[in-house]
Amino acid sequence: MSKKVISDYNGYDYKKDFWENTGREYEDQADRMAIRKLLPKRMEKFADIGGGYGRLANEYLKRAHKVFIFDYSKTELEQAKEIYGDKIETRAGDIYELPFKDNELDGLMMVRVTHHLKNLDKAVAELYRVLKPGGVAVIEVANKRTLPKMARFITGRSKVNPFDKKVANYKNISKDGFYNYHPKFVEDIFDQTGFKTEKVLSVSNFRSKGLKKIFGAENLVKMEESAQQILAPVRFAPSIYYKLRKPEE
Ligand SMILES: C[S@@+](CC[C@H](N)C(=O)[O-])C[C@H]1O[C@@H](n2cnc3c(N)ncnc32)[C@H](O)[C@@H]1O
Repeated sequence: MSKKVISDYNGYDYKKDFWENTGREYEDQADRMAIRKLLPKRMEKFADIGGGYGRLANEYLKRAHKVFIFDYSKTELEQAKEIYGDKIETRAGDIYELPFKDNELDGLMMVRVTHHLKNLDKAVAELYRVLKPGGVAVIEVANKRTLPKMARFITGRSKVNPFDKKVANYKNISKDGFYNYHPKFVEDIFDQTGFKTEKVLSVSNFRSKGLKKIFGAENLVKMEESAQQILAPVRFAPSIYYKLRKPEE
């Protein structure tokens, strides 16, 4: 197997540098909106996989009795502990070898992580392993088949073919590279792993500096509310959210 990639957020202030005063209120709200629609209302044991500093914790703390935030980065997990204290338990490790027992969790989510994963099939198999039969996984996928990427390819400004099912690896963006996935490729992995797809949402549909300038983030959030469901069948958005269930035995 090719070398696995761990994208190292140790020493990086993801909270401050990526989310605070950076004009990403619309993206943050779009993620939250999707999670509210997809996560079960009541869960016993839940884990936010690659949960970072727990940006999205307010969306699941009320729904789960026991909450884990799992991440590779100690910097992120220390921040999470500072913010949420005893409301969460942090676990450190690598997604490819999750520190949870077989069938331990009845819910999990993994948001804004797939772009760091070279071996998505291995990660999905781990998520499946740690979920109880009947448990739910909400997984966000970085989509390679978006409208802007299609336009860039068709006009010759990018060599990455968004119609090709192969994983796209943008090597020049960071030293580890970033991965974007074709929806069909991802959905085949989910099927082969054994997951049943219960719902799909198209998310961050209006992620564009230009649209933010014209409409303002607040109006884009309003438009996003209906677009997530309506645009789901075409899978053109930068983020595609899946609600998956591990079948009962
Ligand atoms: C873009 S951040 C997303 C954080 C959070 N899910 C959110 O949406 O705010 C990606 C997170 O994935 C973690 N990560 C990336 N690769 C990982 C791996 N192989 N194992 C564990 N965590 C990983 C990083 O440390 C980082 O905290």
